[in-house]
Amino acid sequence: MTRHQYMTSHNNRLFIDQVDSLDLAKTYGTPLYVLSERALTDNYRQIQRAFSHARLETEIIYASKAFSSLGIYDIMNHLGASIDVVSGGELYTAHMSQYPMDQVYFHGNNKSMDEIKMALDYGVKCLVVDNLMELYYLASLDRPCEIMLRVNPGIEASTHPHIQTGMTNNKFGISFESYDLKEALTCIQDNPQVSLLGLHCHIGSQISDGDSYLHMTRVILDQVRLIKHLYDIDIKRLNLGGGFSIAYTAQGQAFDFTCLQEVLAIIDTYNHQHQLSIQGVMIEPGRSIIGHAGTTLYQVGFSKTTSLGRHYLFLDGGMTDNLRPALYQAPYTALVANRMEEPTYQTYTLAGKCCESGDILIEAADLPKVHQGDLVAITCTGAYNYSMASNYNRIPRPPVILVTEGDHQVLIQRESYDDLIRNDLRRYHG
Ligand code: LLP
Repeated sequence: MTRHQYMTSHNNRLFIDQVDSLDLAKTYGTPLYVLSERALTDNYRQIQRAFSHARLETEIIYASKAFSSLGIYDIMNHLGASIDVVSGGELYTAHMSQYPMDQVYFHGNNKSMDEIKMALDYGVKCLVVDNLMELYYLASLDRPCEIMLRVNPGIEASTHPHIQTGMTNNKFGISFESYDLKEALTCIQDNPQVSLLGLHCHIGSQISDGDSYLHMTRVILDQVRLIKHLYDIDIKRLNLGGGFSIAYTAQGQAFDFTCLQEVLAIIDTYNHQHQLSIQGVMIEPGRSIIGHAGTTLYQVGFSKTTSLGRHYLFLDGGMTDNLRPALYQAPYTALVANRMEEPTYQTYTLAGKCCESGDILIEAADLPKVHQGDLVAITCTGAYNYSMASNYNRIPRPPVILVTEGDHQVLIQRESYDDLIRNDLRRYHG
């Protein structure tokens, strides 16, 4: 996906989707999440073009966990996307946004009974069943429901260990190597109210190598053939999950979506060769739709240079609004939004304001000479930033502003100090 296409510079200032970032900071304060609607829409359309096939139906399911809110669901609905949700909270948000429930898929390895009931009451399209106990519980409800079985293909994707999900010992999915799959298929055969829509698989996140997907596709297809052969069950849909990487820095590698054509071609050929009944294929991109659409604006406060020569710039946010560098050593790119055309001066370490030494957003950023009060923009923060934000150190979460070709509107308001104490109860008063 393109990175800075929506980010331009005029008179030394950063514009995001034609909106002056300095005006945004002045209007809404900092730190500030800014989302470009055009970037998001273009990313979605680009994936849609890459993921289409003459014979197989294709469906793009936006992975809400990357970023979910009422406004984002409005946009996804407008685009015609399906969505996945992984908790009662995401499901409730989708419900309150009036998302068409026949386009909602419910995931999770430990859905509570209340969450399952809520999903059935709302009438979600499908529950993605993660393990045998969940399936038994669903069957015991004796309510009609459509499910996909999340299988674990035993594949190691080349990405950070925290975001690998398809290995046999991982917590997700029913392993091909265990007896659970046999038990699950038998349970489905014995309980006609549970109807099997297909198989689901997700091997990890931020995966740049297309071979992992081709490999996963072949492994799943072999299982589909075996399932037909051994149980006479026709698998009609395959969900290959998300995980497509984006480039966070100039050195980063973005997933090449043309690979999906190869994936679809393999499925189509296999389908015919083995007389299978696969009709549709789904993917669940999160990051690759919304990652590049986000930019976070911070104001520079104090700074210091250590005796060992490290130049720190302290920003007014940090790991509370972007946990990814601390959690996954994730790299990011910074720009100085009010010095866009000035030459590089030196390497800075961009640190946040939390009481943690690990609260570093970028270890080494080559920037122009930066002064107190300058505006730093960190790019590609649309995915897993707001959705993983916390109130650590009782820091309120920043607002989210949507920019659309010169216009801007609030999608999520800034939390106030009152929001922080809203659920607190006193010990000795009243
Ligand atoms: N489908 C399933 C079943 C998933 O578990 C995930 C992500 C996705 C789709 C979407 O993956 P994406 O296309 O966004 O990579 N917090 C981590 C990422 C965790 C992803 C968890 N599952 C990070 O910040 O990198």
